[in-house]
Amino acid sequence: MRRRARRGGGRQVTLEIEAIGALGDGFAQTAEGLVFVPLAAPGDRLTVRLTGEKGGALRGEIVEMLAEGPARVEPPCPHFSPCGGCRLQHLDAAAYRTWKQGVVGEQLARQGLDPGVVAPMLEIPPGTRRRAVFAARRQGGRVRLGFHEARGRDLVDLQTCLLLTPALLALIAPLRDALAAWLEDGDEADVAVAETETGLDVLVVTPAEPGLAAREALATFAAARDLARLAWRTGGGTPEPLAQRRLPLLGFGAARVVPPPGGFLQPSRDGEAALVDLVRQAIPPSALRIADLYAGIGTFAFALADPARVLAYEGDGAALAALEAASRGPEVRGRVAGERRDLERQPLHAEELDVFDALVFDPPRAGAPAQAPHIAASRVPTVVAVSCNPASFARDARTLVEGGYALERVTPLDQFPWSSHLELVAVFRR
Ligand SMILES: C[S@@+](CC[C@H](N)C(=O)[O-])C[C@H]1O[C@@H](n2cnc3c(N)ncnc32)[C@H](O)[C@@H]1O
Repeated sequence: MRRRARRGGGRQVTLEIEAIGALGDGFAQTAEGLVFVPLAAPGDRLTVRLTGEKGGALRGEIVEMLAEGPARVEPPCPHFSPCGGCRLQHLDAAAYRTWKQGVVGEQLARQGLDPGVVAPMLEIPPGTRRRAVFAARRQGGRVRLGFHEARGRDLVDLQTCLLLTPALLALIAPLRDALAAWLEDGDEADVAVAETETGLDVLVVTPAEPGLAAREALATFAAARDLARLAWRTGGGTPEPLAQRRLPLLGFGAARVVPPPGGFLQPSRDGEAALVDLVRQAIPPSALRIADLYAGIGTFAFALADPARVLAYEGDGAALAALEAASRGPEVRGRVAGERRDLERQPLHAEELDVFDALVFDPPRAGAPAQAPHIAASRVPTVVAVSCNPASFARDARTLVEGGYALERVTPLDQFPWSSHLELVAVFRR
C-alpha cells in the first residue's frame, strides 16, 4: 500500500510570522494555508520547511532566518532550543507577556464567553520551581540527566536550569554521579524531586527492581546530601522508602502535610501562595461549608479551613491518605475531612453540592468534563475554578455559564515562565 504523501511534504516556503499561537509556536498565513513554526518570533522573516500537518494546520521548521523580528532576543539559557522545557526564551519580556496575557481571553472568546473578565496576569519569577522530574539514561558509560529534548527521545544533559530553586539545581551533579554508580548501559530512570520545608524529597522510578548495589548507592547518596527522604518505585508499583532522615513536610494553612513520594505539588511556593490568595479573596467570610474538588494533598482545603469546614474530594489514594493524616493534627481540629472519589466516573451531583456555601475545583489538564455539568446544575453561590489549562477551563466555564453562573473574573498566573503553560483562577457566582 502506498503511503499518502504528507501535506507540505518537505517543501520550503518563505513567510513572515504574524503572532504566537496558544501552544507557543509562531504562525503565518500563507498561500498553502496556516503554518505553525516552533521557536519563531513575531515579525521573523523565515525560510521554513513544511514538515506535515496537525489539527488542520501545517507545521514547519526554520531552515533560514532571513530577518529577525523586533521581539527576538538572545535566549538566556545555554540549553535553549534542544531542551523541551522553555520554548519561549527567544521573545523579549514585553512580547512574551502580551502573548501569554492574551491566551486566556482567546480561549474564552472561542467558547463565546467575554474576554473582558480577564485580569492582568500575575507572574512568578524563574528560579523558584521547587519540584521537577528529571530523566536519566546511561549510554556509552556516561549518565545523562535532565529533561527530554523537544523533539525525539534524547535527553538534555542539564548543566544549569534557570527555572529551578538553588536546592534542586545543586542536586543535579551529585545525582548524576550517584546514578552512574549503579545504572548499567542502556538503563533508564526517572527522578522526581520536591523541595519541602524539611529538605528534599526524592523518588527514583526504574523499570526493574533495584539490586543491592543500587540500594546501597542511593542510601549513601541520601545521607551525603542530607535528603529528607529517598524512595524507590518500580514501574507502576508502590513507592518504597530507602532512606528517611526526617519527615518531608509541607505547611498548608495550619496543617503540616507529609506528601506521598512523587505526588502532585504546586510547582513553586510563590505560585501556591498567589493561588491560595486568589481563592481566599473570592470566597466570602460567611462561607462556612466549603467543598474542595480534586483536592490533592490539601493545598486549598487547609488554607480555607478557618473558620470554615472543608470537605475535600480526591481520586488518588496516596494523596488523600496524606490529606487525611494531616487533618487529624491538633491544629486542624477536625475542620477538614477527606473523601476518596473519582469525580470523572462518579461526579458529585447537584443535590450533594447544594449543601456547600462555596466550592473550589482544580482538575487535571483535561479539566472536569463529567463534573462541570453537575456544578452548573447546583445552587452553590460561589464557585472558584483553578486550572492549568485555559482551553479545558474555557470549555468547563461555558458549561457553568450555560447553567446560569456569571463568570466574574479570571486571573492568569504565570508560574511556568517561558513555556506555553499557564495557570488561572476564575470566580463564578449565582
Ligand atoms: C492539578 S492537581 C490539584 C491538586 C490540589 N488542588 C493542589 O493544588 O495541590 C489535580 C488533582 O486531581 C486529582 N484527580 C485527577 N483525576 C481525578 C478524578 N477523576 N477524580 C478525582 N480526583 C482526580 C489528582 O490526583 C490531583 O490531585
